[in-house]
Amino acid sequence: MTLVIKGQTLTFVAEGTALYESRGAIAVGNRGRIEWCGPQSLLPEHFRVSEVHDYGDMIVMPGFIDAHIHFPQYRMLAAPGKDLLDWLMRFTFPEESRYGDKTYAEAAAGIFLDRLFQHGTTSAMAFCSVHKACAEALFEAAETRNMALITGKTMMDRNAIPDVQDDPETGARETEDLHTAWHGRGRLRHAVTPRFAITSSEAQLKLSGELLAQLPGALMQTHLSESPGEIAFVKQLFPNAKDYTDVYESFGLLGTRSFFAHGVHLSDRECTRLSESGSTVVHCPTSNTFLGSGLMPMTHLRKASRPVHLGLATDIGAGTSFSMLATLGETYKVQMLSGYKPTAIELFCMATRGNAERLRIGHETGSIETGKYADLIVLDPKATPVLASRQELSQSLEDVLFSLMILGDDRAIHGTYVAGRKVHGRITVQG
Ligand code: GUN
Ligand code: ZN
Repeated sequence: MTLVIKGQTLTFVAEGTALYESRGAIAVGNRGRIEWCGPQSLLPEHFRVSEVHDYGDMIVMPGFIDAHIHFPQYRMLAAPGKDLLDWLMRFTFPEESRYGDKTYAEAAAGIFLDRLFQHGTTSAMAFCSVHKACAEALFEAAETRNMALITGKTMMDRNAIPDVQDDPETGARETEDLHTAWHGRGRLRHAVTPRFAITSSEAQLKLSGELLAQLPGALMQTHLSESPGEIAFVKQLFPNAKDYTDVYESFGLLGTRSFFAHGVHLSDRECTRLSESGSTVVHCPTSNTFLGSGLMPMTHLRKASRPVHLGLATDIGAGTSFSMLATLGETYKVQMLSGYKPTAIELFCMATRGNAERLRIGHETGSIETGKYADLIVLDPKATPVLASRQELSQSLEDVLFSLMILGDDRAIHGTYVAGRKVHGRITVQG
């Protein structure tokens, strides 16, 4: 039977443009896809016998998409490292070492995905640990929930602790196996995942580039230019490279399927190469402020003569919130400190349609359109006393979204749907 979801419906058409219905309706078919959307007054007759979830004045919009998050770091938020490298060695690698145990990883995967839903995130591109079992556990849990998820086993063969290291051949073989088993199965996608230039040898980076070229449709995720200490270490390890971006380019890792978390300290030359290759840099503001990595200047990356594609993400567990609302708020603050004032609609668009299109899942999610999956969230603009007071002053959609991203978090997520199924929140049924 079809489901009709009613509320103030909102979707983003392009950066800076929203489509809004004050009394909107979304009809969802039994396969979880949107069959119709528009004003309630125009709902076709045959949907009038459907089950109805009526959210009144709350906002029904596309679920958030987190373009960079670490599954095996879901417990270790708020670990006080001196900087990135200290944080990795002292807290992160020991925690990730637990994920070689399949039973442990399976239990954690369910908790992790349900936590995403609680925070209004319906799709993600995620890092796993070095262990193949960890990636299998996350793929399985995402398949059970029928969500669009992209992940891969992390490859890392040096500068870590033995429990989280592989070797180039094992890493490549397991990556290939995961691709064969999971890529394109249901709503799942696979990403070749070399952690970063510090923890992968030249041999492993070379194999990563070959895998990206050979595995049809695979994406690639890694880290780039996050912190000054990291950049200095990369320079030592690759003395002949022009810069950090050149290290990845020399192994064939730039391109339209490639995602680089952070990009805080990129030079003009690096931006030019990232732009020309169609690569995406994923901005992770709560992580950058927490680790003291720096302020990522969006306007520098987007310079009109060589614009770099951008995504937005939490980067849990260096990031300090699972909430993409909080992440948008922190993006705003980091950009204000860099001399740019983004609008709320621009940032909401980046975190929904924008991330979906970058991650190549834009044909199935990221907006409210006929034929796409009903990956939706219900936002309560008055979820807390502070928000409720603030809404008394709101005079526009931009005002409401702006206050939600500055003041909101999981408390503002009244409900979450993945492929038309309610996966979080209370059901408000009327009619
Ligand atoms: N660089 C390499 N690994 C990581 C990680 O796990 N988190 C962050 N923030 N940066 C990294
Ligand atoms: Zn990361």
